[in-house]
Amino acid sequence: MAADDRIEGGPRHVACIMDGNGRWATKRGRPRLFGHHAGARRVKEIVRACPDLGVRYLTIFAFSTENWKRTQSEVSGLMKLFRRYIQREARDLLAEGVRVRFIGDRVRLDAKLVRLMDELELLTSGNDRVHLTIALNYGGRDELGRATKRMAQEVAEGKLSPRDVDETTLARFLDTHVLPDPDLVIRTSGEARISNFLLWQSAYAEYEFVDTLWPDFCPEEFARVLRLYGARDRRFGAVLA
Ligand code: FPP
Repeated sequence: MAADDRIEGGPRHVACIMDGNGRWATKRGRPRLFGHHAGARRVKEIVRACPDLGVRYLTIFAFSTENWKRTQSEVSGLMKLFRRYIQREARDLLAEGVRVRFIGDRVRLDAKLVRLMDELELLTSGNDRVHLTIALNYGGRDELGRATKRMAQEVAEGKLSPRDVDETTLARFLDTHVLPDPDLVIRTSGEARISNFLLWQSAYAEYEFVDTLWPDFCPEEFARVLRLYGARDRRFGAVLA
């Protein structure tokens, strides 16, 4: 990718539902975790492609609140992969100007993983070139439930007046409170579902569903999808002159 790949009218914040790792591995006669490892290598390439494509914010769905229903060996393999990803990639992410944040409920995650997540957030907190947000034990409804509970707590303690409860206030309690809303949500693997991802934040996002399985989703295809977005006319409910 070169600087002239920047896309006219391209999205600033792209969110990805990285689907198809399991099928990619099965097609090759390999265990599902093999696909997740290939998926992690794609994450690195897609993050690296962002600056030249004008993408400032990238949010990726790594593990949903529903993914605990998978086999114990797949869940523990994914958790190990997340720990290794943080340990191995921290130095490159820092050097490449990537600021990493995690969204989702940390309560159910193992303490060692949470410590690594906190350390990576702190380590990269001075970066501003690309903002990578990793959704880990994340669900849109769960996030809204947690946000509403904390907001209700503030009302109960007298810190927040019920009069001030509106959509701007609620957004402040979300995990994503420091991020802009996504402009574009991409889902790979041919499924046309949003699977509880960024429900509130994607109210006005554009969606692109591509057939490619995530481990095959290369930076060139990423650029192609961003170009499709650049050609769209976003109205946010208004009728434009
Ligand atoms: C969905 O594919 C993918 C996941 C539940 C995991 C996503 C994780 C990665 C891409 C790994 C690396 C991420 C980071 C941040 C290191 P699936 O397993 O549902 O695929 P299938 O629909 O073909 O079964």
